[in-house]
Amino acid sequence: MSASLLELRNLSGGYPPVSVFRGVDLTVREGEAVGLFGPNGHGKTTLLKTVAGLIDPWDGDIVFAGDRLNAEGRMRPRTSRHLNYDLFRKRRISAEAVVRQGLIYVMQGNLLFPEMTVEEVLDIAPQAARGRKGTKQMRDLVEELFPRMRERWRSKIRFLSGGERQMVSIAVGLLALPRLLILDEPTLGLSPKLRIELCDAIAKIRARNVPLVVVDQNVEFLTSLVDRLYLFDHGTITQEIDGNEMPSHEEVMTMMFGEAH
Ligand SMILES: Nc1ncnc2c1ncn2[C@@H]1O[C@H](COP(=O)(O)OP(=O)(O)OP(=O)(O)O)[C@@H](O)[C@H]1O
Ligand SMILES: [Mg+2]
Repeated sequence: MSASLLELRNLSGGYPPVSVFRGVDLTVREGEAVGLFGPNGHGKTTLLKTVAGLIDPWDGDIVFAGDRLNAEGRMRPRTSRHLNYDLFRKRRISAEAVVRQGLIYVMQGNLLFPEMTVEEVLDIAPQAARGRKGTKQMRDLVEELFPRMRERWRSKIRFLSGGERQMVSIAVGLLALPRLLILDEPTLGLSPKLRIELCDAIAKIRARNVPLVVVDQNVEFLTSLVDRLYLFDHGTITQEIDGNEMPSHEEVMTMMFGEAH
């Protein structure tokens, strides 16, 4: 079995004072794709933002490529009405440092700079990969995956469709030369045609052995893509399903919501 690339150990977090996820253990091995599936609003994005260094873990550890990404210890509970942000920041390393390590989180909702053109965004993206090799090959892969971006090269981001923006977001993630690429709901709200294009592109990224964590509401897509699937409910992982036991959409729904779903 290959070495683990990302290990979440007993990870808890949220938006103080509201706890969102608790006791999460999750592993991604080298070359592996892992899926996370769960109902809306149960904390998947909050978990991933914590891994990306955007919000603080309250307890537990995030280990990436053998390095712990958080400071040791538990976050102290809030003791006064006046938030002491130093306490909350204590356990986090900077999002920039996380990116430098090659842990790339493509946020839900394709948050790009609306006034920049596609060309400008893709030109600055490799900055995140400073010091690591492979930009040329990754540019070729991006062109192969998203040929429609050529036509939109000089368009401002705000004039793109949701699907096109999502493609640019993933392209930005790739140009950061990920050692692990995390995609948070990449197909959310897309037309059927663009959804198929995007699922195909993600499958091709998978075929290049880029390690992936993918959150998506489309069970068929997830189960066809990943080596392992984690079910996530009310802020905890309720089940881990191995690739050779991948359930159908119906079976996943029963596991999550019971027979009466
Ligand atoms: N910035 C924030 N401040 C406070 N609470 C938040 C914030 N963002 C999200 N929440 C709350 O945290 C909980 C988990 O939200 P989160 O977005 O992590 O869930 P999710 O599983 O990713 O949902 P979805 O499937 O809709 O993307 C929700 O109750 C949400 O309202
Ligand atoms: Mg989310």
